[in-house]
Amino acid sequence: MSSVNTTIQLITRDEAERRGKPGRAQTSCDDDLAKGPWEFDLAEALAGTPGYGPGASEADVAPAATPRQGQLPQEYKDASDDELTARIIAAKAELGDRVVVLGHFYQRDEVVRFADFLGDSFQLANAAKAKDTAEAIVFCGVHFMAETADMLSSPHQAVILPNLAAGCSMADMADLPSVEACWAELEALYGTEPDADGRVPVVPVTYMNSSAALKAFCGRHGGIVCTSSNAATVLEWAYERGRRVLFFPDQHLGRNTAKAMGIALEQMPLWNPRLPLGGNGESVMREAKVVLWQGFCSVHKRFTTAQIDQARVDFPGVRVIVHPECPMEVVDAADESGSTDYILKAVQAAPDGSTFAIGTEINMVNRLAAQYPQHTIFCLDPVICPCSTMYRIHPGYLAWVLEGLVRGEVLNQITVPEATAVDARVALERMLAAKPRSVQERSARQAAANTPVPAAATVPAATVPVA
Ligand code: 13P
Ligand code: SF4
Repeated sequence: MSSVNTTIQLITRDEAERRGKPGRAQTSCDDDLAKGPWEFDLAEALAGTPGYGPGASEADVAPAATPRQGQLPQEYKDASDDELTARIIAAKAELGDRVVVLGHFYQRDEVVRFADFLGDSFQLANAAKAKDTAEAIVFCGVHFMAETADMLSSPHQAVILPNLAAGCSMADMADLPSVEACWAELEALYGTEPDADGRVPVVPVTYMNSSAALKAFCGRHGGIVCTSSNAATVLEWAYERGRRVLFFPDQHLGRNTAKAMGIALEQMPLWNPRLPLGGNGESVMREAKVVLWQGFCSVHKRFTTAQIDQARVDFPGVRVIVHPECPMEVVDAADESGSTDYILKAVQAAPDGSTFAIGTEINMVNRLAAQYPQHTIFCLDPVICPCSTMYRIHPGYLAWVLEGLVRGEVLNQITVPEATAVDARVALERMLAAKPRSVQERSARQAAANTPVPAAATVPAATVPVA
């Protein structure tokens, strides 16, 4: 199977022929995806406004503070694929253990082939931490991932994002001033005093897909970070400490996780940061168990229940797995939902001959299809539409930053100010220490088994205190 980018280039080249053949299987959501990302760096520089590039999130508005990439030197734009490959291999060989290249599952194959580690955002942050010998960590992912790697890696390590315009449109939907304004309104409504059980009125929970500034906000306000693989564990942690949760920036991950924990939809008001009380009445806010920030992922928002219905018609017995950033009705209609790592493990564990329809980013789905030919694996969305910010990393930028390192120049370093990092690490460490309820219960049972219990004592069944 050819890479997503090669496929998009083929689709774009024979556009005329494609239009004449309505039955043709593959289309791309934006033919501009066939261009080099440097064309968008240039367009943004000329327009004076940052953007996310073509593809799934092109319609989202990039905030003015979104980092912009300077011009990639011409030699990297002009280089052929073979030349870039040779230059990247040579630079990596010269740097040896001094550099580690990390690749997210959603990166294009042309970049992933040079990665020393491939994984989800959390696994890559841990890989950055583990590879202490490397002076430089080249993070082929998006901005919030590089920030997290910077905060978790050693002080002597430089984290490099090959294209500074590789942000995340969802992460940019919540900024510190808007979250602080929301917090002030929540404090005015609920007060700040703990209840008789010692639970505070609200615990802030931020998804990993957020700026370091928001992770620091959570660290300062008794809150925590979550990823898509531990969101339920983190919400349990939060409800042990608070009566309700403010969850940002992804409404879908928050809603899907809270719903699976038994929280009613009426108790999950959506917070629009541009409206007083987020656009909600006071009585609704008083009943809230989780206040959901109005953010979303443009990639996962593309998946629909109609696509699931079609997959079931075309492939009876198909196993539909979607990422929890998908809208609730899509998660409900799927057979399973889980993080990128969950999806990978499900495919690995399936008996030969399984058929999967997967609702997550196309680069990952197509790679799974190529790596596990014993299965039939396809993306739920028939239109090829990669994450437009992951797209901003291209082998040209990778060659540029690696050759910079060979010359002793650190290009595109991502540095989180220490004052922010100190608080953000508190929220990250809380997440790392949070244990799933089953593990907590097991240790509690073990402790109880070792402790003489008075005959009259009764141990109440464990409940998740969300009321
Ligand atoms: P992971 O945390 O699974 O790497 O996902 C990150 C992401 O951006 C999903 O859209
Ligand atoms: Fe952000 Fe969505 Fe891209 Fe993930 S897939 S990096 S959430 S825009």
